[in-house]
Amino acid sequence: MQKIWLLIPIVALCAGLDLRLPGQPLSPSDQPRFTGDRLERPGDYREWVWLSSGLGMSYGPTSRADPGAEAPFDNVFVTPAAYRAFLRTGTWPDQTMLVLEQRVSESRGSINQQGHYQGELRAMEVELKDQRRFAGGWAFFSFERGASSAVPIPRSASCYSCHAQHGAVDNTFVQFYPTLVEIARQKGTLKPAAEAR
Ligand code: HEC
Repeated sequence: MQKIWLLIPIVALCAGLDLRLPGQPLSPSDQPRFTGDRLERPGDYREWVWLSSGLGMSYGPTSRADPGAEAPFDNVFVTPAAYRAFLRTGTWPDQTMLVLEQRVSESRGSINQQGHYQGELRAMEVELKDQRRFAGGWAFFSFERGASSAVPIPRSASCYSCHAQHGAVDNTFVQFYPTLVEIARQKGTLKPAAEAR
C-alpha cells in the first residue's frame, strides 16, 4: 500500500516532464532570444496581447508589397509583460517586443458576400527595446519568408527615423492603438507633437 503512495509523485513528475518535452514552453515567452546577433523568430507572438489592426494604412514599410492587390491588413502584438507595464506607467520597459504582421485582404470566400477578412501572412516584423544592446535603445528585424532568425535592420533604414520622429510614445505608434493612447494621455507620456494633434 505504502508503495502506491510513493508512486503518485513519480507519475506526476513524469507527466509534467512529458508535457514539456516537445520543445515549446507551456506559457508564451516574454524574453527575446538571441543566437549571436540574430534574434530568433518569436513563434508564439499570436499568444501575446493584440493592440490593434490597420486596414490599408500607407506610410511605407510593407504596404509596397503588392500594389495591385486589395488593401492589406496589419496586426500589432506586444509581449504580455510589457503590456502590463505600459498599463501601469504609460511607456515601454526594457526588453519590450512588438510584432507587426501584414496579411492579405480577402473578400470572396465561404459564405461572405461583402466586406473583407484576413488571409495569408505577407510580412512579419519585430521591434525590440534593449538599451544595452542597441544604440538608440531600439532595433527592428524583418522575418522574411518565414525566416527563423534575423539580424537587426541597419540603423540607416527609414524604420528608425520614421518611428523616432512620428511615434507618439517612445519609438512606437501608440496614437494608432486606441486603448493605449488613453493610458498614455492619463500618464502624461505622449510626446507633445502627438498631444497637439
Ligand atoms: C514612414 C513611417 C514608417 C516607416 C518608414 C516604418 N514604419 Fe513601422 N509603423 C509606422 C506606423 C504608422 C505604424 C503603426 C500603424 C500600423 O501599421 O498599425 C507602425 C508600426 C510598426 C510596428 C508595430 C509597433 C509600433 O512601433 O507601433 C512595427 C514592429 C513596425 N512598424 C516595424 C517597422 C519596420 C521593421 C520598418 C522598416 C523596415 C518600419 N516599421 C518602417 C510607420 C512607419
